[in-house]
Amino acid sequence: MKIIKTVEDVRKIVREWKKEGLSIGLVPTMGYLHEGHQSLIKKAREGNDRVVVSVFVNPKQFGENEDFDSYPRDIERDSKICEEAGVDVIFNPEIAEMYDKFFSSFVNMDTLPNGLCGKSRPIHFKGVCTVVCKLFNIVCPDRAYFGQKDAQQLAIIKRMVSDLNFDIQIIGCPIVREEDGLAKSSRNTYLNDEERSAAVVLSRSLKIGKELIENGEKNAEKVISAIKSEINKEKLAKIDYVEIVDMNRLRGVDNIDGPILAAIAVYIGKTRLIDNFII
Ligand code: PAF
Repeated sequence: MKIIKTVEDVRKIVREWKKEGLSIGLVPTMGYLHEGHQSLIKKAREGNDRVVVSVFVNPKQFGENEDFDSYPRDIERDSKICEEAGVDVIFNPEIAEMYDKFFSSFVNMDTLPNGLCGKSRPIHFKGVCTVVCKLFNIVCPDRAYFGQKDAQQLAIIKRMVSDLNFDIQIIGCPIVREEDGLAKSSRNTYLNDEERSAAVVLSRSLKIGKELIENGEKNAEKVISAIKSEINKEKLAKIDYVEIVDMNRLRGVDNIDGPILAAIAVYIGKTRLIDNFII
């Protein structure tokens, strides 16, 4: 496995692979890999001749008061995980390699980024689309793998790929959870013991909402209220949003009569966590 720091060196190796007719799977990450990432890498390994994992904490997707500086980083640990998972290349650029001092082109999308996480993180998806677009142009993968935990991100990237005619298949992979239900996330490392126990309220409240729908509840507001009331029982939890939206436009629905995404963002202490289900 190679760890590559420059765009030029990735391009060289990608050119060789393409000449040999090999397919490439890309797993974009911000590092501090966990079992969620490992499941994406496994899928990429199964479906492609070569696998590239990018490890880059992208400053353009963090707002001013967000956790860019404290975001966990450990490239040695990530390298071991990737090596064991059969990754061919880790692309781990410095910030200046991705954004030189004159950098001024961004990928901005209408509508989809406005709701859900975009409300409290207004520049987030502009930064995500920009860096993912750059990674696609650098690695030229046949397939790229993203977790369903970031459901809005996945929907936005699928839209971007379609809108901008990237010849790349986007593969969404299921949420991976801890035994008690908490969705795996690099941000779980911020939680102290008390917060870690409290964080289970995200998956617990969603389970209640999902069961209501499975038992025939069609009124979105009733399901949202049930989820909120479960979260509010937890004193360390503060709701950012609880929403039920349609899968295509990510707009709130009144009636649940087609495929929907139920998505939540909740602060546990200072840590903002997200979770969701699709039904
Ligand atoms: O999901 C993430 O880790 C990031 O948003 C991504 C897709 C790697 C872009 O920086």
